[in-house]
Amino acid sequence: MIVGSIKENTALEKRVSITPESAKNIIGLGLKICIQKDYALHLGIHDNDYKDIGVEIKDTPKDVLNSINLITKVNCPSEEEISIIKENTILIGMLNPSINKNQINQIINKKIKPFSLELLPRITRAQSMDVLSSQSNLAGYRAVVDCVAEFEKAVPMMMTAAGTVPAAKVLVIGAGVAGLQAIATAKRLGAVVSATDVRAASKEQVESLGGKFLTVEQNEDMETAGGYAKEASDEYKKKQAEMMKEALKKNDIVICTALIPGKPAPRILTEDLVKLMKPGSIVYDLAAEQGGNSAFSEAGKINSVDGIKIIGVKSLMNSLPLTASSLYAKNLFSFIRNLYSKEKKDFNINLEDEIIEKSLIKRV
Ligand code: NAI
Repeated sequence: MIVGSIKENTALEKRVSITPESAKNIIGLGLKICIQKDYALHLGIHDNDYKDIGVEIKDTPKDVLNSINLITKVNCPSEEEISIIKENTILIGMLNPSINKNQINQIINKKIKPFSLELLPRITRAQSMDVLSSQSNLAGYRAVVDCVAEFEKAVPMMMTAAGTVPAAKVLVIGAGVAGLQAIATAKRLGAVVSATDVRAASKEQVESLGGKFLTVEQNEDMETAGGYAKEASDEYKKKQAEMMKEALKKNDIVICTALIPGKPAPRILTEDLVKLMKPGSIVYDLAAEQGGNSAFSEAGKINSVDGIKIIGVKSLMNSLPLTASSLYAKNLFSFIRNLYSKEKKDFNINLEDEIIEKSLIKRV
C-alpha cells in the first residue's frame, strides 16, 4: 500500500502533511510513500531529506496520484486535483466540509473516501490525532508573540535605577486550547494575566497557570456533554459586557479566542467596549476568520481605532509552518496507524471504530 502527498498551494498554505520524520514512521508501519518533487522545498526541506529514508519522488501531481492508495493533505484538494485522484483512494486532511461543499460532493461522487480530521471525536484514544488541539496550542502561543511585537511597551515589570516599569496586563477571552496556551505564554513573559470563559470548569485551569479568573455570575451550566461551550443567553451577554467594562480599561492586551463549534464566533467586544481601552492597547482576534469576537476586526488586517490596534488573524499557522507541519504530520501518522492493518496489509475502514466512523465524511 502506498501513501502519497502533493504540494499544497504554497501561496496560501505553507504547512505540509508529511515531514521526513513522519515519513520514517509511516514506512515503519510497512507502507511505501511517494511525494511530488520539491514537496517541502519552501520550508527548506529538500527532496533528498525524504529520498534518504526511502520516499519515492515523482515529477507531477498526476504521477503521484496515479500510483497511490491514500493521499494526505493539509487543506481540501482543489476541483482540478480531485479530478485526477483515482476512485477508491483514501483522502485524509482538514477538509472543512461545511465550507468546501462543492469539492466534497465531487469527492464523494468519485468514490474517494474522505476523512476530515477536524471531525475526530475528542476522546482519549484520539488525542494523538487531534489536529484542532495541536494547531490551536500553537495559535495561543503565537498570539502572544505577535501582540508583544506590536505592543510599544515592555511586558515584564522592570526595576531599574531610572525607575520601575509596571508589568503589562493581558486579558484572555475564552480559556480553551488556544486561550490556555496564551495565558501560559503571557505569564512566561512576565505579564499580569486574567481570563474569562463561559465554562465554569475553566476557572481551575486558568488559576493553575497563574491567571486570575474573571467570573460572570450565572445559574445555567454553559458546558455541553462534549466539553464545549453553549451559546450565551442575552442575560449572560449583558452581565459579561458589564464585567468587561472594568477589565478593558485596565488591560493593555486582549486576546480573543472564544469559539462555539459549528457556529459563527460569538461577538463579545462591541465598538463601545473596544473604545474603553487605553491608546496603545491591542486587541488580537484569533476568531477573525469566523466572523470575529471583536468589533473592528478583519481577517488579515491591523485596524487602528482611537490609538487602539485591532489585529484580525488570518492563516496564523503560516507564521510557524515548520512546527505546525511537524505536529500536524504526527497527528496524521497516528490516524494512519489506526487505519492500517498490519495483518491484512491493507487499510481497514472499520466503521465500528468511533475514530474512523466520526471522521469519515459520508455526505455533505
Ligand atoms: P476551544 O473550543 O478550545 O476554546 C474556545 C473557548 O471559548 C472555550 O473554552 C469556550 O468555552 C469559550 N467561549 C465560548 N463562548 C464564549 C463567550 N461568549 N465568552 C467567553 N468564552 C467563550 O477553541 P480553540 O481551539 O482554543 O480555538 C480558539 C479560536 O482560535 C477559534 O476561533 C479558532 O478557530 C481560532 N484558531 C485560529 C487559528 C488560525 O490559524 N487562524 C488556528 C487555531 C485556532
